Amino acid sequence: MIDSQTPCRDLEVLSCRPGSDPSLVNLILSAPGWTCRPGQFVMLRPAQWGAELIWPRPFSVCDVSEDGLRILFQTVGRGTRRLAELTPGQKVTVWGPLGRWFRIDESRPNLILAGGVGIAPFVMLARRERRDNLSMLFGHRLDLQHYPYDEIAAAIQSEAMQQKTPADIATFETVLSDRIKALAGKGQVLACGPEPMLKVVRKYCLEHGTDGQVSLENRMACGVGACLGCVAKTTQGDYVQSCVHGPVFDVRDIELGA
Ligand code: FES
Repeated sequence: MIDSQTPCRDLEVLSCRPGSDPSLVNLILSAPGWTCRPGQFVMLRPAQWGAELIWPRPFSVCDVSEDGLRILFQTVGRGTRRLAELTPGQKVTVWGPLGRWFRIDESRPNLILAGGVGIAPFVMLARRERRDNLSMLFGHRLDLQHYPYDEIAAAIQSEAMQQKTPADIATFETVLSDRIKALAGKGQVLACGPEPMLKVVRKYCLEHGTDGQVSLENRMACGVGACLGCVAKTTQGDYVQSCVHGPVFDVRDIELGA
């Protein structure tokens, strides 16, 4: 279902390794000449899936450099478990880069709000931008060393809060509200993480009048607007494909429920 206009290449696996927590996997694909913007995504389908798994899977791009195209993913289902079994030399069909990306505001503070594996697209952003008006607040469930937090903290001011209990989550929500409020009329937030966190971010952006962008992680099958499997409801009452109109949206443009 991915159309013939979508950039598509068969890329070779350079490495595919679980991190210190085996549920988080780093996949590196050979991608000479590849470029991408932070927040864009790719659709991946390994050649050896055959007829067993028909649809490609969407992933945020963690980074693109001379070392290759890096994807950080969590094994949450059959597709990602099979993806984690890739070995060097195998081929993966890659469509992308796709979608809209995070826009940095050059003249005002930009606060990254990352949750869990939603930290992935900010590795590339922090490495490329390395600016004083960019900082990050990271909420995480697993211990911090399992995430690429240090890579980001080496480039921009960063802080992390772990959530293990409902009380931790409530504290994190309070901090989110405070930080978002502090940027009202002065800056913007860039958020990627689990949907409950994005709902909270959007709620406080609207409540405090703070500019914000959120990256949705809707299910996707085609990645190019054809299957309608990824629709998001706009504040105008329409439905748009998040693969084409997002996955990064202005918080004022989309609904995320309560
Ligand atoms: Fe098919 Fe978005 S994934 S329309």
